[in-house]
Amino acid sequence: MSQTLVIRPFQTPARGVAQVPGSKSITNRALILAALADGSTLFTGALFSRDTRILIAALQSLGFEVTADEASCTIRIAGLGGRIPNDRAKIHVGNAGTAARFLTAFLALAPNGCYELDGDEAMRARPMRGLLDALTAAGCRALQADGTPATGFPFSLHTTGKLGRLEVDASASSQLLSALLMVLPLSAGASVSMKGSTVSEPFVEMTARMCGQFGRPLERLADGSWTCPISGAYAAQPTYAIEPDATAASYFIALPAVTGHRASVRIEGYADGGLQGDTAFAKVATACGATLKPANGTLITESWSAIRGGDFDFNAFSDTFLTLATIATLADGPVKIRGIAHTRKQETDRVLAMATELERLGIKITPTAAELRTDETLSSLTIFPSKAALRRAASDGPVKIHTYEDHRMAMSFGILGSFDLFGDGRPWIAIEDPACTGKTFPHFFKALEALRTNFVRVSVDGGAASGKSSTSRRLALLHGLLHVDTGAHYRSLTRALLLAGASADDPASVKAALGKLRIGSRIIVRQGARSSALTLGGELPDDADLRTPEVNAAVSKIAALPSVRTFLLEYQRSQVKLASDQGFAGVVMEGRDIGSVVLPDAEVRIFLEADADARAQRRAAEGQFDQVSQRDHLDATRKTAPMICPAGAHRLDNTHKSLQEVVAEIGEYIKVAALPR
Ligand code: DC
Repeated sequence: MSQTLVIRPFQTPARGVAQVPGSKSITNRALILAALADGSTLFTGALFSRDTRILIAALQSLGFEVTADEASCTIRIAGLGGRIPNDRAKIHVGNAGTAARFLTAFLALAPNGCYELDGDEAMRARPMRGLLDALTAAGCRALQADGTPATGFPFSLHTTGKLGRLEVDASASSQLLSALLMVLPLSAGASVSMKGSTVSEPFVEMTARMCGQFGRPLERLADGSWTCPISGAYAAQPTYAIEPDATAASYFIALPAVTGHRASVRIEGYADGGLQGDTAFAKVATACGATLKPANGTLITESWSAIRGGDFDFNAFSDTFLTLATIATLADGPVKIRGIAHTRKQETDRVLAMATELERLGIKITPTAAELRTDETLSSLTIFPSKAALRRAASDGPVKIHTYEDHRMAMSFGILGSFDLFGDGRPWIAIEDPACTGKTFPHFFKALEALRTNFVRVSVDGGAASGKSSTSRRLALLHGLLHVDTGAHYRSLTRALLLAGASADDPASVKAALGKLRIGSRIIVRQGARSSALTLGGELPDDADLRTPEVNAAVSKIAALPSVRTFLLEYQRSQVKLASDQGFAGVVMEGRDIGSVVLPDAEVRIFLEADADARAQRRAAEGQFDQVSQRDHLDATRKTAPMICPAGAHRLDNTHKSLQEVVAEIGEYIKVAALPR
């Protein structure tokens, strides 16, 4: 019995570095090319997954020396310049399409080989015929057990080592063509032409470019056929860096679409303009509302502005269509995905599998799963989004999604399940056989979990002009927190109370005036950070009005009154819920009693200090007249909620530290607190 994995929705924005593995397509191509090279090549950033392990094991069983170090993602392979040591071997390719096709063509280079090849049930049904026919025409024999010509697995392959002029029907899979292109340089005078066209052209392009990287550029002639002008063994590479998998990256481009407003996920080494055609997914995502920021080989993906519907042709990067198909259920309009006929013959019939599971979630699609079942030629999918339908389908608990041994089904629905559909963190999707991601991305669900952040409450206490506001705002900006300045709360109240004629010396007048105040919150932007500001009667006071000499002189006295503190305490605590409801990664609240009274269980508690001189100078530099020391004295000696360094708080003297240094130091505490537990 396979296990199921219940996906826990993200209630905080996804943040952090996505651990994207190396590209499967590049790793398996590089293995073949390096095996055919003269000398030793070291891969860095290599993928270790079921499909690459199958190819590594096969090469080892053929007599190649391959040493793999999973911990450092490196593989060393000793190429033999086109020679295959063992001319007899039994090879099982599992359901690895690349290994199946690439190895079959590779084995044809053996002058007198006899190999037994087989694959999983699913692989037996996948296209091989075009390749076997091409090799047979060149003199190989691919035979079934009864001695008749084979069209797919299992078969025995009897080889001559000669290729000549090959002609291949690669209409069902571009891998059939890629397999032949990679062996082309090893056979002088060989050429490959295509019967008709192929799918997923960017993968053919990837193959050709990699042949060039290994020293044997291919040429495409005017008639469309491929040749290698200078034939011979490939050139070994001292090191060859495998790009991170662009298809795998698509899940992390999509994740911020479903996890809160302030998501920020980094994909390191993401190479737009690299070898992988699937980077084109970024364009579709952008058209749908993604916020993508590429910089120096890194892609930062932030919360999408929307998930917009549209009509998209995925023919050239079809592995990523499933990523869009699942989140399309949350879009603001129908999503049509075209050009995916060939994916009906991949790990599974992907169009039918996706349709079946979306219908299981109550989503309307055209064509329907029933129509797809009876018509194998249907090649598109239109998804009609409806959150209400999803909620209905999951009203009795998580819906179990079947994955059909298809890693991409599991990962795509894992992203959809990360959406907080009910708004209360209740899981609504369970993935059957999550281990199927092992094909290309064994640690996918771990990598997803690593981006889940804990909601973090940060308290910043300290005296007047100790740097609380600039530090807190910067922290808010860098860590996606909501900033709350409680000093401004006391200032706002003081101003309103003075205007109402109340006086700190007459607590009864203050109490009476407080009873008439109506307070609320509004989110404003200050120095790039989002702050929640206190409104009075729906009005937001001017920043300058809160720092008048009158307010400065009265605020500490007013703030010492128990009635004022009680009045604000629940309001200040309610800011935490506001931050969480608004999708912030946490809250940073500054004041005098935050870590001691307002949020005594805050995950990160800071007490800022600075020399009295330094603080007086800071205020003067701001052009303010503010009796810093007097206020500190009053704030620290009052009976109710005096300013203290809270127990267990980090005490930080910033007299001789730059803002950046202080923010970096506190940032480390925040990062640890935000780590998923
Ligand atoms: O942070 P600030 O200087 O703007 O604060 C103004 C006054 O508000 C401060 O002198 C005392 C009072 N205050 C308080 O009593 N408790 C807080 N948590 C924050 C400010």
